[in-house]
Amino acid sequence: MSTLEGKTAIITGGGTGIGFAIAERYASEGAQVVLAGRNQKRLDEAVEKIGRGARAIATDVADEAQVKRLIDSVPRIDLLVTCAGGAVFGPVEEVPRQSWRELFDSRFFGQLSACHHAVPKMPPGSSILFCSGVAGHAALVNYSGGAGLCGAVNAMGRSLAVELAPKGIRVNVLSPGLTLGTAIDWHVPPEKLDAFMDSLKSRVPLKRAGSARDMADAAYFLATNNYATGMVLDIDGGWTAV
Ligand SMILES: NC(=O)c1ccc[n+]([C@@H]2O[C@H](COP(=O)([O-])OP(=O)(O)OC[C@H]3O[C@@H](n4cnc5c(N)ncnc54)[C@H](OP(=O)(O)O)[C@@H]3O)[C@@H](O)[C@H]2O)c1
Repeated sequence: MSTLEGKTAIITGGGTGIGFAIAERYASEGAQVVLAGRNQKRLDEAVEKIGRGARAIATDVADEAQVKRLIDSVPRIDLLVTCAGGAVFGPVEEVPRQSWRELFDSRFFGQLSACHHAVPKMPPGSSILFCSGVAGHAALVNYSGGAGLCGAVNAMGRSLAVELAPKGIRVNVLSPGLTLGTAIDWHVPPEKLDAFMDSLKSRVPLKRAGSARDMADAAYFLATNNYATGMVLDIDGGWTAV
């Protein structure tokens, strides 16, 4: 029997990148996956690629009513994975407060409100996986608001792990380093990406970026290891170890 047979997984940000790789991995292990993102076409393509009864519900996680509708669409949740969101880069004196607000609306409140609505539907043995990022543990120039966000998500994950342990719900945080097979590939101009990859060589012991599949392997570990809770798992080529 596949390890996630009979489990229902909700994966926000599941249409592309890290969320999609996790959805593909969970579905290949037998889970029924429900993807959420804003762009219906991207979601339809993802559902088609995954097959195995995957489905999708267009959802903007910054809008609590839409998050509630997503959670209401399933009777039970065994695996909640919240990967939806993007990044805002820029010098602190240039990025307007509204941009940071929007980042927090999707990546902080989006993850917290998914938990708020999902927890009553999560049986003992279920698990929640938040997504933060390397900036929660390592300084990243021009990413001050994002760093604050990642630190906040890490802290939220640890506290919820303790709060939800009596209900038998595990809570962990995946903290990716630079990850390809994601929006980075299609949003960052090639010359900027090359310069960034070069700068990684002095900062990251493995001297390369990770892949969305590396993140999916970590998410599978956190979905199936029944003693793992309260962790922030840095999958970053050693970036935060130095
Ligand atoms: N790639 C990296 O190097 C890296 C490093 C550290 C942390 N992360 C974090 O990892 C998470 C996954 O990102 P990724 O790298 O896999 O990028 P990605 O491919 O752009 O995935 C992000 C997904 O989130 C969805 N999304 C964005 N805003 C949303 C919203 N308000 N409501 C619902 N869905 C939303 C996007 O779909 P729609 O646009 O269709 O909504 C997209 O499918 C993000 O939180 C990202 O910040 C990434």
